[in-house]
Amino acid sequence: MSSFSSIASLLALVGGAFSAPLTRRQAPSGVPDFVLTYAPIVYLYSADPYRPSGIGTQLTYTQPEVNFSIVTGAPTPLTLDNLSDLNSLGGGDVYLTATDNIEGNPSWLYGVTPDSTGKTDGAVSCAIIVNDHGAGLVDAFYMYFYAFSPRPLHVPTHYYGGDYFGFIVGDHVGDWEHNMIRFKDGGPQAVWYSQHSNGEAFTYQSVEKYADGLRPIVYSANGSHANYAITGTHDHTIPDLNLFLGPVEDYTDSGPIWDPTLAAYYYSYDAARSTFATYDNSTPLDWLDFTGHWGDAQYPSSDPRQTTVFGISGTQKYSGGPTGPEDKQLNRTRVCPDDGDPCIVRVLLGP
Ligand SMILES: *[C@@H]1O[C@H](CO)[C@@H](O)[C@H](O)[C@H]1NC(C)=O
Ligand SMILES: *[C@@H]1O[C@H](CO)[C@@H](O)[C@H](O)[C@H]1NC(C)=O
Ligand SMILES: *[C@@H]1O[C@H](CO)[C@@H](O)[C@H](O)[C@H]1NC(C)=O
Ligand SMILES: *[C@@H]1O[C@H](CO)[C@@H](O)[C@H](O)[C@H]1NC(C)=O
Repeated sequence: MSSFSSIASLLALVGGAFSAPLTRRQAPSGVPDFVLTYAPIVYLYSADPYRPSGIGTQLTYTQPEVNFSIVTGAPTPLTLDNLSDLNSLGGGDVYLTATDNIEGNPSWLYGVTPDSTGKTDGAVSCAIIVNDHGAGLVDAFYMYFYAFSPRPLHVPTHYYGGDYFGFIVGDHVGDWEHNMIRFKDGGPQAVWYSQHSNGEAFTYQSVEKYADGLRPIVYSANGSHANYAITGTHDHTIPDLNLFLGPVEDYTDSGPIWDPTLAAYYYSYDAARSTFATYDNSTPLDWLDFTGHWGDAQYPSSDPRQTTVFGISGTQKYSGGPTGPEDKQLNRTRVCPDDGDPCIVRVLLGP
């Protein structure tokens, strides 16, 4: 061994110690290195019991329903390789509905806490989708899956003259969140953080980085799993809920580290054809075309599990499950989804 290579091994060892647990490439060949090198590192909320969950696991514990009736003629078993068969059996009206009563706290709702390397061992909890726009412009979507999202909302004290009055609005089975990183010639430019029905964009330069100095840090909020660039309290306005509730808050902190690249499916996206492709032969592909929902439909008021705050409509405890990655605007002009609002790419960190 030459002295050069021993120094190189020593440096690799030291580097490995600093950047552990993030040294193992777990992606098929063909996935651009920069998609992994600059992939987000997620800090889960320390006391959030609802961790990331296996995408395929959701199919094990749910059945497809339309209007609260089981879909007949669906594949059995329903898997990530035949899920889109449901598109002709109700499509966007299909809800993958828990077969357990979720108020019995079945264990699958809690997902998998990442191990000491940051991996959700045994649960593929992320889908990474690469849209190469050409001319050096590449968007990488890091889609995070959680089996359940409770949304603890708090009404500030002065409205009710006590301490915080906590209650829950908009719990739902199935939760898809994401970051998107826009690259130019392999260099990260900007990062999108999904938060409820919208989110925030920051320049890559402005965001906090992991110990390796490269990977953006993302904080997943307690329960809602909205993604933020810093820790602390985040006011946000609830869409579809402009009542007296006033500010509602999300909380983030530096809980367990989740490295979503370690248990992920990897895809490329062809925007002209609206089609997905895998980088290998072992990754399930069909499920990405499913246009239905990844959790129960909003329970009707006749369902004993459904309650409202002070009987006010619009404050249902349970809302419906979300649609999947194909519904997240995968071909963006800007780093933000195109929703008619200006796309502010922040240069300074904030809540
Ligand atoms: C849903 O089911 C209810 C009760 O069975 C029925 O009254 C209603 O018409 C159905 N709605 C649709 C859109 O099928
Ligand atoms: C659904 O996929 C599973 C394997 O992933 C397979 O065993 C089953 O036959 C499929 N069903 C249909 C109807 O394609
Ligand atoms: C975090 O969420 C749980 C429900 O999952 C709730 O009981 C707890 O109060 C929340 N913590 C904070 C600080 O909001
Ligand atoms: C995808 O987005 C690009 C802008 O980056 C746009 O030029 C192109 O027309 C879009 N393609 C489709 C199929 O919408």
